Amino acid sequence: MRPSPAMPPDIPEQLLCALRDARHVIVLTGAGVSAESGIPTFRDAMAGLWERFEAENLATPSAFRNDPELVWGWYEWRRMQVMQAEPNPAHLAIVKIALHVPRLTLITQNVDDLHERAGSSTPIHLHGSLFHPRCFACARPYTLPPGTPREPTNGRRVAPPKCSHCGGRVRPGVVWFGESLPDHAWRAVTKALEQDCDVLLSIGTSSLVYPAASIPTQACEHGALVVQINPAATELDEIASFNLRGRAGEVLPALVQATWKD
Ligand code: OAD
Repeated sequence: MRPSPAMPPDIPEQLLCALRDARHVIVLTGAGVSAESGIPTFRDAMAGLWERFEAENLATPSAFRNDPELVWGWYEWRRMQVMQAEPNPAHLAIVKIALHVPRLTLITQNVDDLHERAGSSTPIHLHGSLFHPRCFACARPYTLPPGTPREPTNGRRVAPPKCSHCGGRVRPGVVWFGESLPDHAWRAVTKALEQDCDVLLSIGTSSLVYPAASIPTQACEHGALVVQINPAATELDEIASFNLRGRAGEVLPALVQATWKD
């Protein structure tokens, strides 16, 4: 007889039934999903070389205008961390859910590629990607050189590459504070919300940054059951029907196991 894997005792039967019966599940992820891969969450990211800085002050167009080498250096350091990391059991559990439900829409605020590397084919990247930089002047995409960026040798600063079309500076392909989300990404979210979502799983996000933080509320208004997985309390606690307190890499695999027995 196979030993039964550990299962948190507090996954209610009502939630298991809702997942088994769901036709369309939306999964919204934040930095907490990548935490167990060793990627610090957005608000914990300023470690080591970067501890004197505030993430919010580096992630803006004006920060890039004022000090492009500092900002590009920070994002290259983060890209290096991501490329040295591997997907964790939370990323893999989301791939499994997609195998069990007729439809799954994955929306991520993360700018890493760990969902894709785990096997999720088309996550909606609401806040862009570290891997798709573009020209700050003419917006043309820039192809990064192969390989992992190296730790800067001369401190934190790294000169951004130049655009081969206009000579402008290349910027990270992420959404900065004060910028709009990519149109195509928000359109895809709106479409998904309108298409009979039965269950929305909000995983590892502080639910502080809008408009991403409005997605669970909108799903709830469309009739979806909202489930949150997070070790800490968030603004979403009041809206979520189920708050599963714990780390995504532990709770999600247990939830998949309890729901579909695999
Ligand atoms: P935050 O850093 O704001 O929040 C991370 C959340 O993950 C917190 O609520 C933690 O409690 C939770 N957490 C930590 N470890 C976890 C684990 N192992 N399992 C599950 N949850 C865990 O990150 P986000 O909510 O993703 O936007 O931040 C949203 C946006 O804020 C980011 O995309 C970024 C930032 O502004 C832009 O850069 C535009």
